[in-house]
Amino acid sequence: MENLNELSEVISQIKEEITNGIEKLENSRMAYEFRKSFMDNKAGKISALMKEMRNIPGEQKAAFGKGINDLKNWAAGKFEEIDAALKAKEAMARYESEKIDVTMPSVKPELGNLHPVTQIRSQITDIFTSMGFEVFEGSEIETDYYNFTALNTPADHPARDMQDTFYLSPGFLLRTQTSSGQIHVMENKKPPIKILSPGKVFRSDDDATHSPMFTQMEGLVVDKGITLSDLKGSLDTLVKKVFGEETTTRFRPSYFPFTEPSVEVDVSCFECGGKGCRLCKGTGWIEVLGAGVVNRKVLKNCGIDPDEYSGYAFGIGIERLAMLKYGINNIKLLYESDLRVLKQINEN
Ligand code: PHE
Repeated sequence: MENLNELSEVISQIKEEITNGIEKLENSRMAYEFRKSFMDNKAGKISALMKEMRNIPGEQKAAFGKGINDLKNWAAGKFEEIDAALKAKEAMARYESEKIDVTMPSVKPELGNLHPVTQIRSQITDIFTSMGFEVFEGSEIETDYYNFTALNTPADHPARDMQDTFYLSPGFLLRTQTSSGQIHVMENKKPPIKILSPGKVFRSDDDATHSPMFTQMEGLVVDKGITLSDLKGSLDTLVKKVFGEETTTRFRPSYFPFTEPSVEVDVSCFECGGKGCRLCKGTGWIEVLGAGVVNRKVLKNCGIDPDEYSGYAFGIGIERLAMLKYGINNIKLLYESDLRVLKQINEN
C-alpha cells in the first residue's frame, strides 16, 4: 500500500466485510472468532494495516494512522454491539430452557432404611453401652484355639459337635460363635471388663430358621463378685427395652463348655403376654439366648485369677431376635434384600 487513496479503498472493503459478516453470526462464540480475525494483534486484518505505515510517505503518515484508528474504533463498536446482542439472545434462550414450574408436583425421593439385623444390632448396642459396655469387634477368621480350645472345648470334646464348623485349614476356621472374642478381650484387658462383641458367625446349617452365616452379639462382664443375678438383671433390662416393659426372662439349666452354670434364657411371650399362643407354642415362653457364669477354666486360660474374679457371658442370635420381634418366619427373608420385606421394618 502506498497512499491514502488505496487505504480508503481497503477501509471500505473491510467495513463492508464486517457489516455483511456480522449478519451471519449466530452466537457469541462465532462473534468472538469473527472479531479476532480483524482485531487480533498478530493475525487481525486491521492490525495488519498498521504494518503498511512504513511504505507511506512521511507527510501522509499521520492521516494514514488516523484512518486506521477510526476504522478500529468503528469496528470495535460494531463488534461490541453484536456481541451484546448475541449474548442477550443466548441468556434469553437459557432462561427459557431453565424455567422452573414451581407448581409441578415433586418427585418423591425413595427413602431407604437400615436393615432389620442392623436395627436390632444397634438397639442392643445402645442398651448395653448405656450400661457402660464397650464394643469389641473380633475377626471372622479364627484359630481353633480362640473358637474352641480356650473356651474349654478341646479337640475331642463332644460339644464341638454342637456347632458344625467350616474349617479353612487344620488350624483355622470361620468362627462359629462370637464367644471367641471373650478370649481376645480377656487376654488383653484386666478386669473390670464389660464388653459387647457383635459380628458374623458361620455354621454348616441351613433351614428356615438357620443360615450358614448369621449374626451374634456376645456380652462379657468380669469383675469381683459377679453372679448369675447380675446376668439376670442385665438381660431383664434388655428384653424390656426390645420387647416391651411387660416382658421378663426365665433361666433354664443348659450346657456350654465355657460357662458354669449355663442357662438357656427364655422371654415371656410378648405376643400373648404369657397366656400361650402360636408364637410361643402354647408355653408362654420363647427361647432367645444362651448364657452363663464364665467357667473358671476359661478365666484361667486368659490369665485371670478365678478366685479373685468372676464373670457372666451371653450370646444373642440377632436374626432370631429380629424374626421374633418382626414376625418373620424364614431367616432367608433377611438376606434376600427384597425391598417389600425390608421397607416394612423401620424402627430407627
Ligand atoms: N456361644 C454360644 C452359642 O453360640 C452362646 C453363648 C455365649 C453361651 C456366651 C453362653 C455364653 O451357642
